[in-house]
Amino acid sequence: MKTTISQVANHLEKTVTIGAWLSNKRSSGKIAFLQLRDGTGFMQGVVVKSDVLEETFQIAKGLTQETSIYVTGKIVEDTRSKFGYEMQVSNIEVIHESHDYPITPKEHGIEFLMDHRHLWLRSKKQHAVMKIRNEIIRSTYNFFNENGYVKIDPPILTGSSAEGTTELFHTKYFEEEAYLSQSGQLYMEAAAMAFGKVFSFGPTFRAEKSKTRRHLIEFWMIEPEMAFVTHEESLEIQENYVSYIVKSVLDNCQLELDILERDVTKLEKITAPFPRISYDDAISLLKEKGFTDIEWGEDFGAPHETAIAEDFDKPVFITNYPSDIKAFYMKPVADRPEVVLCADLIAPEGYGEIIGGSQRIDDLDLMKERYEQHGLTGPEYEWYLELRKYGSVPHSGFGLGLERTVAWISGVDHVRETIPFPRLLNRLYP
Ligand code: 4AD
Ligand code: MG
Repeated sequence: MKTTISQVANHLEKTVTIGAWLSNKRSSGKIAFLQLRDGTGFMQGVVVKSDVLEETFQIAKGLTQETSIYVTGKIVEDTRSKFGYEMQVSNIEVIHESHDYPITPKEHGIEFLMDHRHLWLRSKKQHAVMKIRNEIIRSTYNFFNENGYVKIDPPILTGSSAEGTTELFHTKYFEEEAYLSQSGQLYMEAAAMAFGKVFSFGPTFRAEKSKTRRHLIEFWMIEPEMAFVTHEESLEIQENYVSYIVKSVLDNCQLELDILERDVTKLEKITAPFPRISYDDAISLLKEKGFTDIEWGEDFGAPHETAIAEDFDKPVFITNYPSDIKAFYMKPVADRPEVVLCADLIAPEGYGEIIGGSQRIDDLDLMKERYEQHGLTGPEYEWYLELRKYGSVPHSGFGLGLERTVAWISGVDHVRETIPFPRLLNRLYP
């Protein structure tokens, strides 16, 4: 019977066939240990010379890395491996022989691995990171579906900028100029006025000349938007959502976290509520920590975020930033208009900002004023103003960057390993 590595627990003591690749091998004169992978998992197959046909043992001994095979054998428990099972191989059928596979079990440099990303994805560690990414996506859909949100897909090709004009990717749209979406937010605001609670999940593009371990040119964002929800209420949704996905990964990706040697005790502490610190207090804290030249009104860089986060073992909200360093659509605090109703959620352990969110301006005149200040003119922005004209309501939303969240939960250093085919400042290949 044909099955997969993920299903072998259901076939204990039975003989099954698995389509697999050979990821590694060890053999002596009498026994061969085959490290098998089939996409669903990794498992060891043991070929004992005295138990199989001579021909089968010779095939096993000659197998090269990444050769594809149908391997048949009995599934038995293996208490020495974390996976818990292995196969007592009785037959091997070669599908396709692989020669000179470039990624050998020895260490390779990062640029070499990135050039071979199409193959590197097969490795155990990369497989684990992608499985965790998948679990975060799966639990995101669960969370928002369970809480009555409607999934809405904003456009990717847009005529207007959502987050600032300097980081836009320009493209031709027949005779017109278009941009690749930086954020679906403006469209999600329209959707919230039609459906109440909505969320999106899609690719976003930023032509940022940043070459850091937190920046991608193309990344995926989850953007919920809620009508009749204030900034404070939005923070509660954010902390519930983030703790929900962390718990889902802890519950469903134990093997993957183990492969990545993630310290799960740190993740187990991630439960709502999360601490909040105002921008004002964050400035004071930074000064105490020796960042003497940071002044009120300046934006935080990665070292500042890391310094603030190290005081907490949960993600921390930094709230009420100065209006001047934030996007045009954020609602000012009532009695203090120089700061806005917003928060960035900073992940622990130096992973930086994973969420940016705010309550949105709902007053038509104030929004018009902001447009003028930011030079956002032209008919392509008109529709957004109309949302403030026909039954405007308080509303809030946020964007969670998937790759930074995957990096944090998986414990990998750089976002380039958290997306299947990263687009970086110097990389459009493979
Ligand atoms: O803070 P940002 O720019 O917020 C927005 O785009 C809002 N319109 C979202 C909203 O309110 N609907 O981006 C949100 C998140 C960041 O916190 C970060 O996690 C991620 O997107 N992000 C990036 N991730 C990888 N590479 C980049 N270059 C990123 N830029 C932002
Ligand atoms: Mg931000």
